[in-house]
Amino acid sequence: MASKTLCYIFSTMLFLLQLHVSAGQTVVKSAYWFSGSGFPASSIDSSLFTHLFCAFADLNPTTYQVTISSSNSALFSTFTRTVQQKNPSVKTLLSIGGGNANASTIASMASQASSRKSFIDSSIINLARSKNFHGLALDWDYYGGFNYHFQAISKSLDWINVMAYKFYGPSWSPKEAGPPAALYSITASQISVDTGIKAWIQAVSPKKVLGGHLPPLPPPPPPAAALPLLGVPFFGFAWHLVNANNHGLFAPANGAAITSDGTIAYNKIKDFIAQTSATTVFNSTIVTNYCYSGTTWIGYDDTQSISTKVTYAKGKGLLGFFAWQLAQDPNSVLSKIGI
Ligand SMILES: *[C@@H]1O[C@H](CO)[C@@H](O)[C@H](O)[C@H]1NC(C)=O
Ligand SMILES: *[C@@H]1O[C@H](CO)[C@@H](O)[C@H](O)[C@H]1NC(C)=O
Repeated sequence: MASKTLCYIFSTMLFLLQLHVSAGQTVVKSAYWFSGSGFPASSIDSSLFTHLFCAFADLNPTTYQVTISSSNSALFSTFTRTVQQKNPSVKTLLSIGGGNANASTIASMASQASSRKSFIDSSIINLARSKNFHGLALDWDYYGGFNYHFQAISKSLDWINVMAYKFYGPSWSPKEAGPPAALYSITASQISVDTGIKAWIQAVSPKKVLGGHLPPLPPPPPPAAALPLLGVPFFGFAWHLVNANNHGLFAPANGAAITSDGTIAYNKIKDFIAQTSATTVFNSTIVTNYCYSGTTWIGYDDTQSISTKVTYAKGKGLLGFFAWQLAQDPNSVLSKIGI
């Protein structure tokens, strides 16, 4: 299962904010804006969010300083001012790294105090403060399989983004059209949102003290644990089915459809359904949407899946949720859920 557990990205937050959550509410409603998407920051309905991530800043492999590419420089400098026009209280975070960043460079930066200082000084002082961001997010994909230093991460950071999606995709699961981000699984060997969230909660919980024959020791004070934000995808994956008549979950497939790696934005999925009169299914047992037409099969999150996950996040006492990414839901159909 090693390759599947790699699908959890823990994007680590480095900024300082006091946020309190109690059962039945979430306090962070956030989404990524990705500059490469072409979706203008001025089009974001920031009134729907408490926090927005501006992605991505880069890490220089030699100096370990955080930099912003020249093409992003002006966009990032004005990001906070732009999104605060519709919501003056929205908080912004500069996101460093991302899926295309070199994870070895981040690991080598993190391994030594001197390079960590370059990273911290350049990111906090030179970039975040001078460009009006309220905080920083380190998007380190994927730093350690499932051998995360849960307790250390939890103590150092304000929250943790759990990338609870990309469980199945045509690039690494070409022969099986699986649900990319199901809340629950059908069999114990399948990965799901719930298994990942439970693993995180268990890993950061204070260890129980066993008393034996002695009087039990008083419990240790709970660590200031970073609470997880549940990641939800504003995209799905399209597979090419082997047989158009075999179109259930985990149907035999042979690779990606529609795009080279099968990634397809939520609004494009809705276009596909309208144009092909695709059959749509919501499976409430595992909480996933999928649709199919001919030999094309798409697994994704529609409104039912996202709203069930929002309810789940509240029930588990999570801090909130984050979405990747805004350009894929330009009409805010998914963004409006749970707000
Ligand atoms: C990633 O970074 C490491 C260490 O900085 C370097 O050796 C490697 O060549 C880089 N890989 C890519 C694809 O740039
Ligand atoms: C969801 O899919 C699984 C696997 O195909 C199936 O066993 C289950 O009955 C489905 N649930 C619903 C509500 O259709």
